[in-house]
Amino acid sequence: MLVEKNVALQPYNSFHIVAKAFSLVRVTDVTDIERVLASPELRSLPKFVLGGGSNIVLTGDVKPLVLKVEIMGKRLLSETARGYTIEVGAGENWHELVRWSLEQGYPGLENLALIPGTVGAAPVQNIGAYGLELQDRFASLDVVDLHTGARMTLDAAQCGFGYRDSVFKHSGGLGLKDRALITHVRFFLPKPWKAVLGYADLDRKLAASGMAQPDAQQIFDWVCAIRSAKLPDPQRLGNAGSFFKNPTVTPEQCADIIQREPRIVHYPLADGAVKLAAGWLIEACGWKGKAVGNAAVYERQALVLVNRGQATGGEVMTLARAIQTSVYERFGILLEPEPVVV
Ligand code: EPU
Repeated sequence: MLVEKNVALQPYNSFHIVAKAFSLVRVTDVTDIERVLASPELRSLPKFVLGGGSNIVLTGDVKPLVLKVEIMGKRLLSETARGYTIEVGAGENWHELVRWSLEQGYPGLENLALIPGTVGAAPVQNIGAYGLELQDRFASLDVVDLHTGARMTLDAAQCGFGYRDSVFKHSGGLGLKDRALITHVRFFLPKPWKAVLGYADLDRKLAASGMAQPDAQQIFDWVCAIRSAKLPDPQRLGNAGSFFKNPTVTPEQCADIIQREPRIVHYPLADGAVKLAAGWLIEACGWKGKAVGNAAVYERQALVLVNRGQATGGEVMTLARAIQTSVYERFGILLEPEPVVV
């Protein structure tokens, strides 16, 4: 097992923030973790699990031992009359998995096309887009407990999925943040396949196409086109996707805001609460295109913060806090960041 020292993390975070890991171990197999936990020097060190780095803000060099997950492999585990179960290594690229699953004839992940990051990071924030969340296609996942070395398989209930949330984002109590390293994820793709439509952007594509029954590949292509038009490609412009979660408010709060701001974008949820479009709130406060140093609000989607050059994590967080303050002062709503701040 190789412990790499002073490793540049800029290539490993989609914001392209310059920072280094004092020590880093690449995990290609469960045995790599066993070796770390058997090592007298390494086992008691605090640890930080790094996937695709697409949902983190690095605010300095990383002192905990970085475990960079590079466990590969994609395979069909079973096919029944009800659907396909596939098993994927946590280090696989998410978008490549979506593309592969369609090629193999296992549709069901197409709405989640083009989301940056790795398969192991996907359950951490329960990725979601265009009417589908990871939890809708999730079967189970395998983890190694970095405190005890125990290997466990967790089902959806044990993962505690919520909107951009799971047990892997929380410390203390039942939280597994920096404690559980996800090694494999299993997905269940139900038969017969059914298109997930109903999201405004997708429905516009459907109406424009004149198609009655788009197939999964068609939805994949539409999702890729919508995302490419709205969201910056992290290869070209560093970013971590949506920087804030869309907040939920009570119907009373929403009615109060609508009185003052009739154009506010809002969606009623099944449980009676109302979800507000954070991008709209941020744009309404005049933030589109504004910057702090090299950290800026993306011109085409105010929910996305971008790195226009050599932005530091500090600049990103200063911009984020300024946005939070102005949205709070105008709407009385505290926006919650989506990425993990390291
Ligand atoms: N809007 C504005 N101004 C903006 C941005 C958005 O007015 O600058 C309005 C749009 O016009 C639209 C509404 O807000 O009416 C929603 O915008 P959009 O469809 O772009 O979606 P979103 O709510 O901003 C969420 C997810 C995205 C996901 C899309 C599509 C969150 C935090 N973000 O964004 O997820 O791709 O829906 O499902 O839930 C991510 O989590 O990193 C991410 C990109």
